[in-house]
Amino acid sequence: MRCFQQMPLLAALAGLATAAFSSWTNVNINGGGGFIDGIVFHPKTEGLVYARTDVGGLYRMNSDYSWTPVTDSIITDANWDRAGVDALAVDPQDDSKVYVALGEYTNSWDPNDGVIARSSDQGATWSFTNLTFKVGGNMPGRGMGERLAVDPANSDIIYFGARSGNGLWKSTDAGVTFSKVTSFTAVGNFAPDPSDSTGYESDLQGLAWVTFDPTSGTTNGATSRIFVGSASNGSVEAIWVSTNAGSTWTAVAGQPGTYLPHKGKIQPDEGALYITYSDGTGPYDGTAGAVWRYDIANTSWTNITPVSGSNLYFGFGGLGLDMQSPGTLVVAALNSWWPEAQLFRSTDSGATWSTLWEWTSYPDMDRYYSISTPTAPWIYNSFISVSGAEQLGWMIEALEIDPFNSDHWMYGTGLTLYGGYDLTNWDTTHNITITSLANGMNEFATLWVASAPGGSELLAAVGDDCGFTFVSASDLKTSPQETWENPFWSTSSSVDYAGNEPANVVRVGQATGSQMISISTDGGVTWNIDYGSDTTDYGGEVAYSANADTILWSSSTSGVLRSQYQSTFASVSTLATGAVIASDKRNGTVFYGAVSGAFYFSTNTGSTFTKGGALGSASSIVQILPHPTTAGTVYVSTNLGIFKSTNYGSSFSQLSTAITATQQISLGLPASGSTWYLYAFGDGPDGNKLYASADDGTTWTDIQGTQGFGPIDSARVAGSGNTAGQVYVGSGVGRGVYYASGSLTGGSTTGTSTTSVKTSTTSSASSSAKATTSTTSSSVKTTSTTSSASSSVKATTSTTSSSVKTTSTTLTTSKVSSTATATSAAPSCTVAVYGQCGGTGFTGCTVCASGSTCTVENDYYSQCV
Ligand SMILES: *[C@@H]1O[C@H](CO)[C@@H](O)[C@H](O)[C@H]1NC(C)=O
Ligand SMILES: *[C@@H]1O[C@H](CO)[C@@H](O)[C@H](O)[C@H]1NC(C)=O
Ligand SMILES: *[C@@H]1O[C@H](CO)[C@@H](O)[C@H](O)[C@H]1NC(C)=O
Ligand SMILES: *[C@@H]1O[C@H](CO)[C@@H](O)[C@H](O)[C@H]1NC(C)=O
Ligand SMILES: *[C@@H]1O[C@H](CO)[C@@H](O)[C@H](O)[C@H]1NC(C)=O
Repeated sequence: MRCFQQMPLLAALAGLATAAFSSWTNVNINGGGGFIDGIVFHPKTEGLVYARTDVGGLYRMNSDYSWTPVTDSIITDANWDRAGVDALAVDPQDDSKVYVALGEYTNSWDPNDGVIARSSDQGATWSFTNLTFKVGGNMPGRGMGERLAVDPANSDIIYFGARSGNGLWKSTDAGVTFSKVTSFTAVGNFAPDPSDSTGYESDLQGLAWVTFDPTSGTTNGATSRIFVGSASNGSVEAIWVSTNAGSTWTAVAGQPGTYLPHKGKIQPDEGALYITYSDGTGPYDGTAGAVWRYDIANTSWTNITPVSGSNLYFGFGGLGLDMQSPGTLVVAALNSWWPEAQLFRSTDSGATWSTLWEWTSYPDMDRYYSISTPTAPWIYNSFISVSGAEQLGWMIEALEIDPFNSDHWMYGTGLTLYGGYDLTNWDTTHNITITSLANGMNEFATLWVASAPGGSELLAAVGDDCGFTFVSASDLKTSPQETWENPFWSTSSSVDYAGNEPANVVRVGQATGSQMISISTDGGVTWNIDYGSDTTDYGGEVAYSANADTILWSSSTSGVLRSQYQSTFASVSTLATGAVIASDKRNGTVFYGAVSGAFYFSTNTGSTFTKGGALGSASSIVQILPHPTTAGTVYVSTNLGIFKSTNYGSSFSQLSTAITATQQISLGLPASGSTWYLYAFGDGPDGNKLYASADDGTTWTDIQGTQGFGPIDSARVAGSGNTAGQVYVGSGVGRGVYYASGSLTGGSTTGTSTTSVKTSTTSSASSSAKATTSTTSSSVKTTSTTSSASSSVKATTSTTSSSVKTTSTTLTTSKVSSTATATSAAPSCTVAVYGQCGGTGFTGCTVCASGSTCTVENDYYSQCV
């Protein structure tokens, strides 16, 4: 049954061998997996394209149409929020330059002000300009844009349209400094939900796009005419223009005054500004909208909306103009949740349109396309081919036609990047070939990773796309055939294997409405629902007994639960709610647990727990790590660093305090010798990073190098149980799973070759950042059931173990769970049969007409059927 249809090392020290671990590369889940909210083609350099994401940074397209992530190195522990790219611009006159506005949230969830990052080498290296306010790369309205634009006549001039009432900003030194444009007074006064106390939906959406008119000539060396679109609802002052290179501004006369302008693009040969409008700022919403054409020369506005009446039940987002063929354009319904997304194409400047599909005899439709996802089979197999699925996607804000090739186009969705190479067939045979073009994109929030010795090489629980299994190391570059199925739920929070029977795997999901425990007897290839779980409990952490007979579940909903032989899960009263749990990997009767700073163990398969040895003065236990092959040996990650027991947790000794405040830790097969490598995210000599030890935690080496993993308290790590010296890292932001391998030497001393000892400044800075995020987790969690947006990468962060385990909400792009359908402020009114009655961000009526029931079709769409 389905509930969703539809991430250098150290230079060699004399006398010490060092390791590789310098080359982190993605496990190739591929296909995107999250929201691609902006695409920018360089207007003058063929083949140069960038795509931005809301939680996974920036990508640049390669000559083979695959993509390379270009912001990984800047998405650090302290600056995790740079994974959110709210705006993107290229310099039309200098193809080496690219600019992005970075930051995740404008509310308290994000501790940092935003930055404008600039690169002069196509993203290889970056410089930053601090803004004095926050940037919302994972906020509502993030698909509008582009909010950043470089003057095509003057590379020094860059505008940035800010959120939160901060207005219009301008650089005259190629992005080194920005100052506010005081003559521009509009701020964009629309907020999706002014009453949202979290600040997420109540923040002003601000300015949406800045568009230079290249046909307007120059004033003092700067383009004369500039349009700015703002998120102002029901206002004739949404779109502004300057005709004197930004000195003065006026609202464009005659503009529609209805809806919010998502995109505003100029076709220079036509002298026309095209605009798509929606009644929400997106990316999940929209129930009405319009498309308009503004003829600049004679200042006339023409409504070119492709549909009307009852056929107009969505707003418009994506807008692609064919620069080779003036008058040819494609627009997209931003969200047509049912029955399918819709795209419209015109070859006569919007006078007439044709659609990508149409009804024949309901429920049949003619689909004027074929669709396939060879570079990411799981998209086709687990999404597209599913009965009733929306094939064409949702959250379609980014849509571009290659300025050099009328056939090459692409559009971003909440799941992937689609497009193709035969777009003009739309006009001839009216049948095009659509394919996933997200080759190289991995925008997955990774909530858990595991590698089972003698079992599957990698099990990855992810947000939005459930999870993926890579049976052997040779599979890591092969995009999986499917997501975890049976059931599929949008987000999985944890996965574990049985140590003595590693083909046995258990996972837990973070949705509601169906059983959330699923088990596999073939290493996570196929799954079966565990009917011992009920349909209301979800989330948290699972642990499988070594002999695969007992599952312990520290749930997000009902405390610690236990089930043996798939019996009904029952409460474990001796372990408090929110406990961190684990199973001994060899002794089938032993489980471990931890609450705050206290360690517990069970010798009766988790029925009852007894307090174990003390962990110094540790007050917070993040994780319990049983040794993969040695019964009774267990490591514990705490706020003071790592403790180890060799007697089932009866007593502990502390490992080197070179690394403190450890987060996730793991053991992996060593490159040589018999001592398993110990991996730990923690606060060490090189900062808050990933370290590894070949001598059981006596000496440590920074193996992260210049790779960014995002916040370390959200990052996941699993040493390989099968491949010597290999380690997996689940990115703390939306960048999937990385891996690297290398060899360590017991005597290598941490970081002394590359970096100075941490200063107390850094230290206090990082701890305050953590404290902030810790606070935010709970608010993220709280809101995630009612607000679409609350989904956040950051959400897994926390300094306390219990909240790590319980707040692992997912990302971004899409929303966490079907709980989102339970919108809190639903008006009391009735929805007609087949009408929408719920979905992430949906604010309409939720009561179905009699005879029909509100049924969850996907996270974004529930329907009265
Ligand atoms: C920008 O902000 C960061 C962190 O807030 C700070 O470390 C850095 O010095 C600032 N840079 C400038 C040029 O002010
Ligand atoms: C936007 O404006 C229209 C027209 O005034 C109004 O009907 C609609 O409710 C407004 N939407 C929001 C979210 O304020
Ligand atoms: C404005 O110019 C466009 C493009 O030339 C033309 O199609 C339209 O009819 C003109 N409108 C008016 C009101 O003159
Ligand atoms: C478009 O082409 C595909 C692939 O050949 C085909 O399956 C589909 O039926 C065609 N659509 C129509 C409406 O003929
Ligand atoms: C498993 O652990 C229990 C409790 O410590 C112990 O009594 C038992 O002998 C262990 N079993 C094995 C096979 O080591």
